Amino acid sequence: MIKAVRGTRDLLPPDTALWNHVESIVRDVFRAYNFQEIRTPIFEKTELFARGVGEETDIVSKEMYTWDDRARAESEKGQSLTLRPENTAGVVRAYIEHQLWDRGLQKLYYIGPQFRRERPSKGRFRQFYQIGAEVIGPTNAGGESPARDAEILEMLATLLDRVGIKDWALLLNSVGCPADRARFNEALRKALEPVAPNMCADCQRRAVTNPMRVFDCKEPADQAIIATLPRISQFLDEGCKKHFEEVQAILSAVGVPFTLDDSLVRGLDYYTRTAFEFTQGTLGEQKAILGGGRYDGLSEALGGPAAPGIGFAIGEDRLVMSLAETADSVLRKPDAYIAPLGAGMNREAARLARELRRHDRVIELGDEAFKLKKSFEAASKLGARNVLPFGENEVNSGMITVKNQQTGEQVSVPRAELAAWLKPGR
Ligand code: HAM
Repeated sequence: MIKAVRGTRDLLPPDTALWNHVESIVRDVFRAYNFQEIRTPIFEKTELFARGVGEETDIVSKEMYTWDDRARAESEKGQSLTLRPENTAGVVRAYIEHQLWDRGLQKLYYIGPQFRRERPSKGRFRQFYQIGAEVIGPTNAGGESPARDAEILEMLATLLDRVGIKDWALLLNSVGCPADRARFNEALRKALEPVAPNMCADCQRRAVTNPMRVFDCKEPADQAIIATLPRISQFLDEGCKKHFEEVQAILSAVGVPFTLDDSLVRGLDYYTRTAFEFTQGTLGEQKAILGGGRYDGLSEALGGPAAPGIGFAIGEDRLVMSLAETADSVLRKPDAYIAPLGAGMNREAARLARELRRHDRVIELGDEAFKLKKSFEAASKLGARNVLPFGENEVNSGMITVKNQQTGEQVSVPRAELAAWLKPGR
C-alpha cells in the first residue's frame, strides 16, 4: 500500500469544515483591515530563498525541498528550484516584479501550503499551511511607520479572538537595524569565542558565520550558555528605540497586552526592528502559533527599490489544533433529505432539490431505488434535519410531507413555502 509522505497528511471531512470556517473568519478580518489576497507560485528559484531568508538559517541550510529542473528545450536553461518554505520572499519578489510600489502601500494576504523538511512531530509538518500578510511600500507611503506595526499586531489580536483562540500571548522584541545587528553580532562573536567549543556543532559553526543564529538553537544542553549571552536590546540605536517605543505606546493605547522578550530573534535573516510571536499554551513544544516582523531591507536584498515592510504568518495547522471548537459544531448538516418514492421519481426529486438549493437550503438527494427505510437510515447517518418522502402524491397535490428527524413531528407543507419552512433555526 502506498501511504502519504512522512510529514504530510490528508485533511478529511469533517475537519475540512473547521479549516474552511477558520479561513472564512480570517478573510472577513482581512477585509475589515483592507487587505487583499495575493497568490504566488508554490515553487520559486532557489536563489530567492538563499538571498531572502538567508544561507545560514535552518530553513535554507537544512530544510528546503530543492531540485534541479532540467531544460526541456535548447531555449530553456536548467535551474535550481525550491518548494517555498515561506511566502514573504515570494510576495516581495512579486512586489518588485510587478512594480507594485506604483499602487501605493500594499496590504496583501495569502493562505496556502509551505514546505520544510523538519523532523515531524505534534504541530510540525513537512507540508503545512500558513495564513500570512505583508504590508509593504515606499517610505513616503508610510511603509516604515510604527503605526503599521501596531495595526498588524492589533489585527492579530482581533483575529485570534474572533477565531476563538483562548490564552494567547504576544512576545515582542526589536532586532534593530543592520548597523545595530553588526555591533550585536560582533559582541556575540566575542562572547561565544571561549564557550562555543562546549556547544553543539551547529552553534560552533554559527558562532563564526552568523552568531545571532545561536539563539535558534534547540539543544537543551546549550541553553544555559545562551542565557548568558548579550542581548540585542543593548545595541539598539536611537531611531530603532523610538520606533519600538511608539509601537508599544500604540499597543497600550488600544489595549493589546504584550510581553517584551529580548531573546526573540526569529529564525529568518531578513528581520529588522519589530519582531514578534504569538504563543498558545495547549500547543506544547511547538507553541508559536504565528511569527512575524519588519523587513525593511528585504526588497533591496532581492534587487528591488527601498520598500520597508512588515508581516506575519500564522501556522494554520497549529491555529486549528488549538481551537476549542470541534468540526461538528461548525459543520452545516443537510436541511433535508429527499427520498424519491417509486420508479420515475428521481427526475421529480431532482427538480425539487434544484428549487430548494436555489434558496440556499442544503439538500441531500436519495435514490428511487432505495426503500423508504433505507432512505431514513441514510438521512440519519448524514444528520439531515428533515426527511421528505417524495412520491407521485406529493408531485400531484403540491403538498410536501416533511418529517422532522429531531422531534419526529410530521407536517404537510405547500411546495411554494417549503424552502422557507426548511430554513435552519426556523
Ligand atoms: P516562521 O516563524 O518561520 O515565519 O513561520 C510562521 C509560523 O508558521 C510559525 O509560527 C508556525 O506556526 C508555522 N510553522 C512553521 N513551520 C512549521 C511546520 N513545520 N509545521 C507547522 N507549522 C509551522 C515565517 O514563515 C515568516 N515568513 C513570517 C513572516 C511574514 N514574517 C514577515 N512576514
